[in-house]
Amino acid sequence: MRVLGIESSCDETAASVVEDGCRLLSNVVASSMEQHVQYGGVVPEIAARSHIEVINQVIDQAMTEAGCTWDDLDAIAVTYGPGLGGSLLIGVMTARTLAILHHKPLYAIDHVMAHVYANFLTMEDGGWKMGIGGEEGDQVFAGGLTGAIQPPDASNLHSKIVSHQPSAYQLPDSQPTFPLLALIVSGGHTQLVLFRDHFDYTLLGETHDDAIGEAFDKVAKIIGLPYPGGPSVSKLALTGDAQAFAFPKAKVGTYDFSFSGLKTAVLRVAQQQIGEDHTFPSKTLPERLSDAQKADIAASFQQVAIETVVDKALKAYEEFAPASVVIAGGVAASPELRRQLSERLPCPIAYTDPRLCTDNGAMIATLGCFHMKLGRPPADPYTLDIRPNLSM
Ligand code: KG4
Ligand code: ZN
Repeated sequence: MRVLGIESSCDETAASVVEDGCRLLSNVVASSMEQHVQYGGVVPEIAARSHIEVINQVIDQAMTEAGCTWDDLDAIAVTYGPGLGGSLLIGVMTARTLAILHHKPLYAIDHVMAHVYANFLTMEDGGWKMGIGGEEGDQVFAGGLTGAIQPPDASNLHSKIVSHQPSAYQLPDSQPTFPLLALIVSGGHTQLVLFRDHFDYTLLGETHDDAIGEAFDKVAKIIGLPYPGGPSVSKLALTGDAQAFAFPKAKVGTYDFSFSGLKTAVLRVAQQQIGEDHTFPSKTLPERLSDAQKADIAASFQQVAIETVVDKALKAYEEFAPASVVIAGGVAASPELRRQLSERLPCPIAYTDPRLCTDNGAMIATLGCFHMKLGRPPADPYTLDIRPNLSM
């Protein structure tokens, strides 16, 4: 069974073909990130325009690199929420059109649940079916597969299209087993979810305010690091002292989270460091902070933010004794999260490739395969609507 996954909920336009819910055949991602950097966050209108520009090309490339024709394809899966309305619309309308044109079942995918399914892609049987093209960073346009709309000239695109050979990904040897504890840590979500089986889960807890990735992004802004904050804070933290500042951990329900207080504590410490009070504008802070102060703030913040989610994952592990634990979402790419979890969790944990933690089409296609395998009803391609506020 081969499923094409399409993702466009935020600033990545992505498509991938996955076989049987475990084998990655292609993974193509175009990010409009560079166009948002100067604004310090994603600008919805720019993201939507960028999706329109590249989506056909991204899908064509994913099909070509998988060596897949429309006849070879069993279904199409698309993110219908949660996410930015304008961005979701582009992916959903494209998927609806393709499903109608090529007579394929269409599966509506929950983006947050799909992050968990990135962990179901495995090295199993080592049998990568090599597609054509697809060297790292290649910008290949195969032409004609999506039909009517011709893609723009690649030299005019604002987004860079990136793909890697499936064999370039470091994947677990086998799929996680149930009951499965998932720590979902992204730019929009922070949740602990216990899956008894596919599509049978309990939400143990979630954030009351900011998501952990959002906290990384906001702290990056306070100390003058580029968006997205996760990778830049992570990198600077390597040179700082994680014990330099004692940031507080929020006191909320056992499996709930809160990161807005931590973000404010970081702002106050930054102001104190330059001898100013709470009225000092955060915009002017970075130019007054030394590199060493920034590094210490980054390291101390990261230490507490990551420790908070690891504390709760550990607690859930002890209470529910799951057969496996996975981490999912952009922050799951964090080396510090992986280090702390591996150190403290009493069971081995299989991590997927960091490139499959941030938004991608492979996780959408993988969850799509399970929808199909388990006989879940497909969506109506004539009426499927977006759900920007969809929640697990
Ligand atoms: O899952 P994702 O790509 O998009 C959402 O669905 O939200 O997650 C993006 C988030 C951003 O907040 C980014 O700063 C964070 O993931 N992130 C990281 C790292 N890489 C990305 N956070 C911490 N450490 C990283 N290495
Ligand atoms: Zn995401």
